[in-house]
Amino acid sequence: MTDAPAMPSPEELRELERLAVSVATEAGRLVLDRPGDLGVASTKSSGTDIVTVMDERAQDLIRTRLAAARPADGFHGEEVGGSARAESSITWVVDPIDGTVNYLYDIPAYAVSVAAVVGDPTVPGSWHPVAGAVVGPALGETYRARVGGGAFRRRGQGPESAIAPSGCTSLALSLVGTGFSYDAALRRWGAQVLVETLPLIRDIRRIGSAALDLCHVADGSLDGYYERGLNPWDLAAGWLVATEAGARAIEVPTSELTWAAAPGIAEGLERVVRAAIGRVPAVGQPSGSTEG
Ligand code: IPD
Ligand code: CA
Repeated sequence: MTDAPAMPSPEELRELERLAVSVATEAGRLVLDRPGDLGVASTKSSGTDIVTVMDERAQDLIRTRLAAARPADGFHGEEVGGSARAESSITWVVDPIDGTVNYLYDIPAYAVSVAAVVGDPTVPGSWHPVAGAVVGPALGETYRARVGGGAFRRRGQGPESAIAPSGCTSLALSLVGTGFSYDAALRRWGAQVLVETLPLIRDIRRIGSAALDLCHVADGSLDGYYERGLNPWDLAAGWLVATEAGARAIEVPTSELTWAAAPGIAEGLERVVRAAIGRVPAVGQPSGSTEG
């Protein structure tokens, strides 16, 4: 078992949170303006897992700003060339556009996600977000959080307010977000888990940005959320916003399963999702066998 990474001081946490908000806001403006070519620059895990020119430009901007403000920190971003080892205790985990497919189709549910984490984000279970921001520029939404500081949302030019999850206590009446990986086999698996889950809840939303899904659990616009196959940059800032707002969530977010929920349905949602996962054959296994 590895030692828990050291927590920054309260002053440093405040500085990290301020920096996360400022760079995510600046990158959000760049992305929203859509200057120049918006086209698909390349694809990643599958033909539908796209990178737009703006993903790359936004990541470059964020990386430049963070390196100028805190040169010793590490960087772990979604796009190519997005990694640098930390000489300090902090690594920035960045998704320049979470919800890239929405962005490509001009659907406003996309966000810039910037998180400061301690530990090594490339090693599952060994890292922890300590401050972060999720900025949805087309929605006019900014979420921020730092460890022990609560979670806050600003809408448009309005005042910032503390947020909290919904008071939902009935799983049958809960609105739950989910998402699907880009891998075809995982998508089939996710659809089968959904078939098991959907009859037990009010309804499902597939909004298309894991960072926003987590923030929407934080502010009660979703009662719960689950997804499998996320990367650290999809969830780092949103997970912190959700937990600081008072949502219950999986202890160490891993690609295996991420969930977050209003306290009144958390236990029920986790049970239902895990039971559904247990009944659906794991990817790569013949039907009849299930994962343990
Ligand atoms: C994706 C979004 C989506 C989720 C996928 C992610 P991207 O990130 O968060 O909601 O279902 O698993 O990969 O590709 O838009 O940055
Ligand atoms: Ca993402």
